[in-house]
Amino acid sequence: MKKFLSALFALALAASCTSLDPKEYGIDVVPYPNEVSLKAGSYKVAGAVFHYDGNMDALSVQAVTDFADRLSRVTGKQSLVSEGHSRTGINFVVDPALAPEEYSLVVNRKAVIIKASALNGFIYAIQTVKQMLPEEIFSDSLDQDEDWKLKCVVIKDAPRFAYRGMHLDVSRHFWSVDEVKRYLDVMQVHKLNRFHWHLTDDQGWRIEIKKYPRLTEKGAVRKETLVGHLQPKDNVFDGTPYGEGLFYTQDQIREVVAYAAARGITVIPEIDLPGHMVAALACYPELGCTSGPYEVWPMWGVADDVLCPGNEKTFEFIENVLSEVADLFPSEYIHIGGDECPKVRWEKCPKCQARIKALGLEADERHSAEYFLQSYVTERVEAFLATRGKRIIGWDEILEGKLAQDATVMSWRGISGGLEAARLGHDAIMTPNSYLYFDYYQSENQDAEPLAIGGYLPVSKVYSYEPFEEGMTEEEKSHIIGVQANLWTEYITTESQLEYMLLPRLAALSEVQWCQPQNKNWERFEDCVDDVCDIYDQMGYNYARHLLED
Ligand code: ACM
Ligand code: ZN
Repeated sequence: MKKFLSALFALALAASCTSLDPKEYGIDVVPYPNEVSLKAGSYKVAGAVFHYDGNMDALSVQAVTDFADRLSRVTGKQSLVSEGHSRTGINFVVDPALAPEEYSLVVNRKAVIIKASALNGFIYAIQTVKQMLPEEIFSDSLDQDEDWKLKCVVIKDAPRFAYRGMHLDVSRHFWSVDEVKRYLDVMQVHKLNRFHWHLTDDQGWRIEIKKYPRLTEKGAVRKETLVGHLQPKDNVFDGTPYGEGLFYTQDQIREVVAYAAARGITVIPEIDLPGHMVAALACYPELGCTSGPYEVWPMWGVADDVLCPGNEKTFEFIENVLSEVADLFPSEYIHIGGDECPKVRWEKCPKCQARIKALGLEADERHSAEYFLQSYVTERVEAFLATRGKRIIGWDEILEGKLAQDATVMSWRGISGGLEAARLGHDAIMTPNSYLYFDYYQSENQDAEPLAIGGYLPVSKVYSYEPFEEGMTEEEKSHIIGVQANLWTEYITTESQLEYMLLPRLAALSEVQWCQPQNKNWERFEDCVDDVCDIYDQMGYNYARHLLED
């Protein structure tokens, strides 16, 4: 009998571990929290009094107040906010023992107790609570019909990766301050904490630099834009200028940085160099190997014209630009690009060749001397930014030649760059194009989709990404600091299309970034996607429906 019972118990345990019905997860929160223990009963939130710890910082208090205001608005019952603690109501408590992004959430029949040590923990607790409430909490209008209750639960939660990023290209097509804020809003829903802002490229310079006003007067505007995909010849252009006035003033940059900070998001600016610089060369042709003339690039792809590192003026320009950038962004990191820099101009440029000679740069079995010239650029920029208290991130091409001493590598051409960086003891951020390029198609039926760059990246493939490879050492794993998806906008012209490419793939990304591997579960996630899309509906976002239609 005893044996029979224990066999039964083992069976039940196996069932609960391996094939838990998605409904049994009990809460639809994406990314799913680390530890969730559902209890009997519920707590009524409408009209609840909010109590916050006197030790909370100003941004955390603001986050609490904003949540209370929203709750009041949607429930129609005023929630007061006061400093202190109580046995009832919704309590926010500072617990210094918790890590900065960790939080705990206890809901019982009388009270809600949220503990965190810093802003991000409080923000994530609020996001979890919001997702546990009816989705109307994400709208801005009154909904008295809803059952404004939270299930009783104990949650302990913290992210798997410290760096949880989403990128946006604002050069190929520009996104206004309001559009960027909406992008940040939905990142916050899924607990991302890094916004990688790709501000400059061949097709348009989009950040005001006081010392070089021409960059945004002339460098923001291209004469016309390629129609469709780049062809080997006979490309078609639309004949319409694009980009006049489409850039961010420094005040607007500060506004976005502050908006993001209040949502727990650090903005990492990218000034892509020494390639992807044609827009700057169009303004300052003396910085190119041939001295131009150049025009802001009307097509997509990789341009042969890049900055001339043989010219000292190039470094003066880079340092002046990065000085202003460093002052605008509190981020520890500045992304300096480094990708797709052809060497054809350098090979023929007397100044570049003289620099190679003077530095004694020599080819090795893998790379020509010109690759080491790019490493020289990266190292000089790294050293300059270090004097401003900043560290660099570069695309994985910065591994070619000699990797700068303290550089963090963003692995985009697959995973090998990130793995190599980690092996070399450098930090790496994984953004492999095969899993995390949100400019790729979401369906194999491309005719039914808006024009995209190519590829095929359904939500399920995003979800399946695992950044750790078999055989990695613990030391190497510790260097994989995070995961990010990239959204390049050559083929994306409207906000609604931008959101379509982003959502709900962003939700899948967030579970890769946040959840421990054992907490990832495709069936649960898939079951949750319609609830997540209900949130997007309430917030007025467009999204792709492929998963809902299956
Ligand atoms: C890249 O996609 N060129 C980083
Ligand atoms: Zn040159």
